[in-house]
Amino acid sequence: MIEIAIDGTAASGKGTLGKKLSNKYSFPYLDTGMLYRKVAHDLIKNKITNSKNLEKNCCDFAKKLTFKELKNENLRSEDVAKFASKIATFSSLRNILDEKQKEFNDLNKKQFGGCILDGRDIGTKILPNADFKFFITASLEVRAKRRLLEKNISFLHENDEKCMLHNLMNDMRERDKLDINRKSSPLAPAKDAYIIDTSLITAQELFLKVTNI
Ligand code: C5P
Repeated sequence: MIEIAIDGTAASGKGTLGKKLSNKYSFPYLDTGMLYRKVAHDLIKNKITNSKNLEKNCCDFAKKLTFKELKNENLRSEDVAKFASKIATFSSLRNILDEKQKEFNDLNKKQFGGCILDGRDIGTKILPNADFKFFITASLEVRAKRRLLEKNISFLHENDEKCMLHNLMNDMRERDKLDINRKSSPLAPAKDAYIIDTSLITAQELFLKVTNI
């Protein structure tokens, strides 16, 4: 049974890699960021982002969360992502979501012979004994440009595009800072991870590199 752990910064290419590996090897894939996004989305929807009991509210939503609910396009917004990285600093929330990720891995590994998880602490915390660990990164500018392309917006003015890119870079910088500096499970490569910078390579080149390994 094979466990594959993929970690890295936002828009580094880890999600595309996870999906491609899942297709090739027929192992289920979980984008664990969606768990944090779902809790953040529920708090925003219920207008309790400034609650005094924010950590407890997060845990209440996390306990109720099911994997089926993760297929929701509203979870993909930058506002949800920003709030997700804020609540991802709560260790009690992380404990609940850690269990869900391990449960997903255990179930699918048995049923399909392997499982792929992507996130921020998969190789260091969730699957410390994973057979393969990858840490994917890229320059801030390249990552922001990728996110902008994904949004598929046709800009009327070059300045609007520049402004949006600038905002995306600021948001990502903030998120990276929170993820890297938090006390509980900070974003960091596992000691035994292959570290790959995708700034100058395509998604397909990354996939080939990883499948060679
Ligand atoms: O991967 P994605 O960008 O969707 O994740 C949103 C946020 O959720 C991240 O910025 C990070 O703060 C948090 N996260 C985490 N641990 C994970 C996955 C995501 O802390 N395993």
